[in-house]
Amino acid sequence: MAGTFPSPARKRWFARKLLQWYARHGRDLPWRHTRDPYRVLVSEMMLQQTQVSRVIPKYREWMRKYPSWGVLAKAPVRQVRDTWYPLGYNVRPIRLREIARTVTRKYAGRLPDTKPELLALKGIGRYTAGALLTFAYGKREPILDTNVRRVLHRVFFGNRPVTDRVLWDLSAAVLPRRQPYDFNQALMDLGATVCTARAPACPGCPMRPSCRAYPLFSPA
Ligand code: ADE
Repeated sequence: MAGTFPSPARKRWFARKLLQWYARHGRDLPWRHTRDPYRVLVSEMMLQQTQVSRVIPKYREWMRKYPSWGVLAKAPVRQVRDTWYPLGYNVRPIRLREIARTVTRKYAGRLPDTKPELLALKGIGRYTAGALLTFAYGKREPILDTNVRRVLHRVFFGNRPVTDRVLWDLSAAVLPRRQPYDFNQALMDLGATVCTARAPACPGCPMRPSCRAYPLFSPA
């Protein structure tokens, strides 16, 4: 990708519009009331491949039962697996418990705040590391999950095929210096509530004036 794509003006416009939209339409979700790395990680692991509405009650139940790394690390594997049910992808609770054991034993109860250390933990990939660094530690790190991928692809490329590498670079390029937390949460919300896969709600989308995909969706 050329170093000047997107142009600085387009990046600024995108960030400003997205943050304005989020201030009015962002969702009030339980994990957005905390910066506790434990809570952020539990929410992000639950949210992988799982809808927000299914995660909310489970997140609350989990936090009552396992309020900290220490409690989770000591909980019996079977019980942890049962508590996770019916979320699915059952390796996730096991990995989460393993991470809790590592955090308590190796890191004295504090989740690391660097990308290489986070990526070294099994179950934490590039997306989750980025989410932890912005949502728990307030750092400026890009994220790319299904929703973010769709938003960036449509707005900046329309129906041109692009690689994940380009979209990761783009996610980093559009991320503003200020409010990385809000910006990344906003990207996910726009993808989940407006720029949806099957029936995007273009009339309510703040990106419509500059979206490369919008002309393709609307009748000629
Ligand atoms: N999907 C993954 N992470 C999320 C978050 N923090 N808020 C809403 N949906 C998400």
